[in-house]
Formats: sequence, C-alpha cells, structure tokens
Amino acid sequence: MKNKYYDLIDQTFDFPQDEFRTEDGELYFHDIPLMEVIKQYGTPLKVTYLPKISSQIQRAKRMFNVAIAKTDYRGTYNYCYCTKSSHFAFVLEEALKNDINLETSSAFDINLIQELHAQGLIDKDKVIVCNGFKKEQYIENIVGIFNDGFRNVIPILDNKNEFTVLSEAVQESAEGTGNEPMLLGIRIAAEEEPKFDFYTSRLGIRYHDIVSFYEKEIKQNSRFRFKMLHFFINTGIRDTAYYWNELAKCVNVYCDLKRVCPDLDSLNIGGGFPPKVSLASNYDYEYMAEEILAQIKNICTQRGVEEPNIFTEFGSFTVGESGATLYSILDQKQQNDRELWYMIDSSFITTLPDTWGINQRFIMLPINHWDCEYQRVFLGGLTCDSEDYYNADSHANAIFLPKLQKDEPLYIGFFHTGAYQESIGGYGGIQHCLIPAPKHVIIDKDENGEYTTKLFAKEQSYKSMLKILGY
Ligand SMILES: Cc1ncc(COP(=O)(O)O)c(C=O)c1O
Repeated sequence: MKNKYYDLIDQTFDFPQDEFRTEDGELYFHDIPLMEVIKQYGTPLKVTYLPKISSQIQRAKRMFNVAIAKTDYRGTYNYCYCTKSSHFAFVLEEALKNDINLETSSAFDINLIQELHAQGLIDKDKVIVCNGFKKEQYIENIVGIFNDGFRNVIPILDNKNEFTVLSEAVQESAEGTGNEPMLLGIRIAAEEEPKFDFYTSRLGIRYHDIVSFYEKEIKQNSRFRFKMLHFFINTGIRDTAYYWNELAKCVNVYCDLKRVCPDLDSLNIGGGFPPKVSLASNYDYEYMAEEILAQIKNICTQRGVEEPNIFTEFGSFTVGESGATLYSILDQKQQNDRELWYMIDSSFITTLPDTWGINQRFIMLPINHWDCEYQRVFLGGLTCDSEDYYNADSHANAIFLPKLQKDEPLYIGFFHTGAYQESIGGYGGIQHCLIPAPKHVIIDKDENGEYTTKLFAKEQSYKSMLKILGY
C-alpha cells in the first residue's frame, strides 16, 4: 500500500530534485546526509551550505549573459550582492569569490565594506552601490570611503534633500584635493501593486520629478557624474502585467534622462529573483532574464537610446537557497478531533521570523522516517505566542509529516531559509520568551567533493541574553 511519507512526496512532486534525495528513509540535502549532521550537532540547528551561494551567483551571471547573446543586447550584465540579505562574513567571503559588486543599505554597511577591505577581500575599485534613506552618518561614511580611494562608490539618491547634504559633504572634503567626480544614481519610486495600502513606494523619487531634479540640481554640479537609474519592485520580478508595466515606465524615464545626461549608462533593476520555496516551483528564470533584456532593448530602440548596462541586486536568490533550519519534534498534542500539533524544539517567530511576519512559506520536509506513514499536522513553536505556528505550504493549505515513532525522534527541516531571517530575527539579541538562537553550522565541500562541517556559533547562552537585559 502506498501510504508512506515518501509515497506522498513521490506522487505530489517530481522527486528527487537537484538538492533533495532520500536514502533508507532519510533526507540528503546537496548529497549531505542531514541525519549525520544532526547526530553530530543536535537541534535546533541553522545550516549554511556555502557552495550554493557561488553556484547561484554563477547561475545569475550565466542567465543574463546568455540573454544578452540571445537578444543581441549591447550593454553588460553586472551582478551586485546586497549585503542586507545576509551580512555574515562567511557569506561575503564565499560571494566575493565570484567577481561581484556590492550593495549597501545603511551607515554600518560602509563599516562592513571597510572591514572587507582591511581583510584583503575587496580592493578599492569595487563598485559599491549605496541604497537606502541616508542619515548623516551614512553620507559621512560614503564620502569617507570615496575620499579613501573607493572611486566606484555610487550613492543612489533616495530623496532630493539627500543630495544637498551629500554635495555639501563632498564639497567640504574635496576642497583643494582635486578629487574626481563621485558617481551618482537615483532610485525611482515605483507604483505599488493595487493590493497595497499605498499607491507609491516611500523609497525613491517620483517618476515625474526625476528629469527636472537632475537638470536643476545635479547637471551643473561638477563634483558628480550621474551614472545610474535604480528601480526595485518590492513584490519581486514576476511575469505579471504589473511588473512589465513598471519596468516599461522606468526604461522610459531612463531614455528621457539619457537625452539630457550623456554620462548615464546603467540601469539597476534591484533584487527580486525569487528563491525556490516549493518543490512544485516552476519559475522560469531564463525566460525572465531574456524578457527583461528584450523589453529594455525594445523601448531603447524605439526611443533611439543606447541600451544601458544592467545591474541586479539579488539577495534572496543568492543566499536563500544556501540555508536550512533543522528542528526536532519534542512531542505531539491532540487539541481536538482535527488538530494534531507537533511541537518543535525552538520558535518560528525567533528563528524564521518571515513565516510569522509576512506569512512566508519555505520548503518543509522531514529529515528521517520517510518510510513511515504520515498524517496532517500543525507545527507549534515554543513561545507563548499563539502566532508561533506553521501550518501550510506554498502549494497546499496543509502540511503532512511522518507519524512519530518510539525508537527515534522525528527531525524536520525548513529549506532555503538563508536570507534575511537572522537580521530580522535580531540574531544574538534578546528573543521572545528568551528562546535562544540556535547553533549555526557551515557546510562546505572540498576539492574531492567530500563535505566538511564547521561550527560557526554555539547555541546562544542564557548569560549573553541576561547581559543584554542588564543583569
Ligand atoms: C534596493 C534593494 N535591492 C535589492 C534588494 C534585495 O531583494 P531580494 O532579496 O528580493 O532579491 C532589496 C530588498 O529589500 C532592496 O530594497
């Protein structure tokens, strides 16, 4: 009878998949036997599989370069890693093996850039795209690294006032030094999707104001060379009328601006390539890359403007699929006829905050007991918060897991959790109900294809939390 967990997955999806397979009822992630990792380190456990970061960067580069060839596009493709998706040193060290540019979001990010330089991981000609609403300290830090020789730092204006503060800071610090101009960009404030509570993004400058602002304020300022128009749709890059419409509006602003600003040569389309969050995922990345370039080229040709160089800032796509979060099931609780709770040994709110904050779904699979019968369950976290639960996949409004067995606990994994969860969850800080941050293990592969594991951080101690709390 086909009533085992493996049968359920086999009948529902095309399985095994690139990164998932099973052997003797246990799950392998990129050929790593996760039960071995759990036996060595225990749960709850965060895992980063480093090679996936490089392979995603190479994949993005390959897709856009193929799209350039196919569409006969006359600009270049430039990959930026946006540090906000995961600031960890081991992530940046891996990403920087792939000849990439970087994107920053706040003042401390510039300190991070300086640290990377001090460690010899980047040199001063690296392109650093600086996004975000800029408080004075951020501007000061940007101007600081520019004066220190980072000639390819590109502050992207989020609002008009920023330019006044930035130009004063550049003017003051450059007096008498004869610096070459600082590169500059503007972020376009996109119109939001109709389902949003507001019409226009708070991030960036309105479409209609951009050309006049450039002409009035930036054009005659010889301390700047205007190079980049930036555009980011926060719901991501998707094959929807809304996305193509916003992209077309943005490219038209690019063409308007190019007429009055010959230095402009780059269009930054931000982040938004989605990570795989379901075994049923069928997102066509190659098609999207090709279609984006074809649309840009088409509009530019019609408007008689040279195609821009393309920059992207893929965060979730780059680092999301490198991460996994593993738990064990501590106990089950039958709370009524239909609701059977499996209690995990940590909290969703603290370790996977997107599941709670934006209802994000990840790929959730058992690590063992694939050869056992399954049942519908609700997963509950350890905090007292009634919202600390997980009960649906992105493809189905229910989740299923193997029945608990007497001989061995059930272990489960949430996969592709490598982006944003630590920074949003406040890694290393105080946590809801004082549930500690889990251990974090880094997995790599050596030249023979053998995997290695390294403990990056132990489980958070009560002492560290009490210290933050003033005890
Ligand atoms: C300016 C900018 N670039 C890139 C990103 C990364 O987006 P994603 O992780 O969806 O690729 C973000 C995310 O907020 C962003 O605001």
